[in-house]
Formats: sequence, C-alpha cells, structure tokens
Amino acid sequence: MPLRVITTIAEFRRAREDARAAGTLGFVPTMGYLHAGHISLVDRARAENAVVAASIFVNPAQFAPNEDFGAYPRDPERDVALLEAAGCDLVFHPSPEEMYPPPEQDVYVTPGDIAARLEGAARPLFFRGVATVVLKLLNIVQPDRFYFGQKDGQQAAVIRRMAHDLNVPGALVVCPTVREPDGLAMASRNVYLSAEERRAAPVVHRALTAAQQLCHSGEARADRLREAMRDTLQAEPLVASIDYVSVADALTLREIEGAAADGAMASTAVLIGRTRLLDNVILTRPEAGGE
Ligand code: PAF
Repeated sequence: MPLRVITTIAEFRRAREDARAAGTLGFVPTMGYLHAGHISLVDRARAENAVVAASIFVNPAQFAPNEDFGAYPRDPERDVALLEAAGCDLVFHPSPEEMYPPPEQDVYVTPGDIAARLEGAARPLFFRGVATVVLKLLNIVQPDRFYFGQKDGQQAAVIRRMAHDLNVPGALVVCPTVREPDGLAMASRNVYLSAEERRAAPVVHRALTAAQQLCHSGEARADRLREAMRDTLQAEPLVASIDYVSVADALTLREIEGAAADGAMASTAVLIGRTRLLDNVILTRPEAGGE
C-alpha cells in the first residue's frame, strides 16, 4: 500500500482498523532524524509483518528542562522519504498537542528500580517520560510486534519490564545495535560531534570490546571488566567525563558483584565534548557457548 502520513490519533485508529484484515502489524517508535539503526528496525518489522507502522515524535516528557528538546535534530521530510524507501506503510507524526492535549497529563507510567540506575541516575524523569509515551503509542497503534534497538539497552529493559508488569499486548522485539565501520553506535545525537570528537568517539565501543575480550580470555570478574572499560576511556583525552561504567544483569540492570554471567550487559555513558554517548554490549562467555 502507498505510505500514509497521519497526524491525528483518530485517523490513525481508523487506518489501524482498515489494516487489520491484511495481517500482523509491526511498529517502530522513533523520535525521527532517522539513521541506519532505525531503518534496520523497519527492515526487521517489514520481514515479520504484513503491515509496518513507524512514529516520528520528539517526546517532550522525556527531556528535562536543561536538556536539548528544542534543539533535538529534526527532519521529518527526510524521515518520511527514508521510511517510504524502507517499505513502511503508515507513519504516525503527531504534534505535541495531539499527544498531550489539555488538561495537563496527570497519569504517568513510573518504572521503579530498573529505571533508577545508569541513565536514570543522571536523568531522574527520563524513563517515566519514555514509558508513558511508549504506552500511549502502543495504545494508539495496537501493534502485534514492536521493535526497539539494543543500542538503548536500558530503554529496552524498561519497556520489557513495563510490557510484562502491565500486561501490554503484542511482542517486544529487540534488534542488534547498528554501528559505523569504526564501531561507533549509530545515534541521532552523533551529529553534535565535531570532526575531532567524531574521531575520538569509537573509544566507547573499544572500551566495551575490552570487557568482552577479557570475558573471552576467561576473566569474568565484573570489577575487572569495569576497570578495563574505565582504563580504555580514560586513555582518550577527549573523554570529558565518564558518567558510568557498568556490568549488570541484563534484565534487572543490577550491578554484578562477582563473575559476569553469559548474557550480562556491559554499558557506559560518557561525555565527549558536550555530546553524551551511550553504548552497551551483551557479554558472551566462551565456556557458556557464546562466540
Ligand atoms: O528511543 C527513542 O527514540 C525514544 O525514546 C522513543 C522510544 C521513541 C520514545 O520517545
């Protein structure tokens, strides 16, 4: 079917009903300014569903007053062209007023412990904003499957937990991180990096790789993995600060004290110049049958 761009909830609900007879619907929520990482989610949704929907909505509820809501990169025309080329059928592109009409929103989804650490420690209301808008979008789109990237590993874990705890219908599909050839994870905010910072940015992936290599060589003690990550990051002069290095259980995100099990998540967030970069890898241990 030809791509339709829909800006109101009422019209999207009608389009959703019309599409029901075609088969399953896969949904990719985004804040726009799309890159190959987003398109990989659309590709996966395209392969697994009869109908593919994506949303473009920069969600004010997940930005703190001191964050970059106003400056967040936006290019909806280019986004729609990319989505069309990827075979998307429906694009939901509402205004903030459509998503948050008066009176002021009073009921939020407030994730607990899982959102209190890592990203949540630095950005206390961030996951409340994410979980709330994702549940609103899921209620509007009613997908059979919804697609998130492993790049935002904590976000995926929060959404998994929300879906479990609140009996959200449909299945969450978490897709692998898409990287630049030098290892930098694709992210819309990468455009903020200067040329020099961009050259330094792959250090984030190198730090995660250092942890993975230690695991492969038989050293799985979590504190040693965190130390290896920190050492790698500190060796790069353009890393202005390290927010956290973490080796955590991938489901609860609680820090691991002893040996990291196969499937644990190593993650970090750093400031390079004024750009905050975050990334993670799921650790594999050879003796557990991992790579
Ligand atoms: O990952 C994002 O782009 C956003 O957090 C999401 C899931 C679209 C919610 O606004």
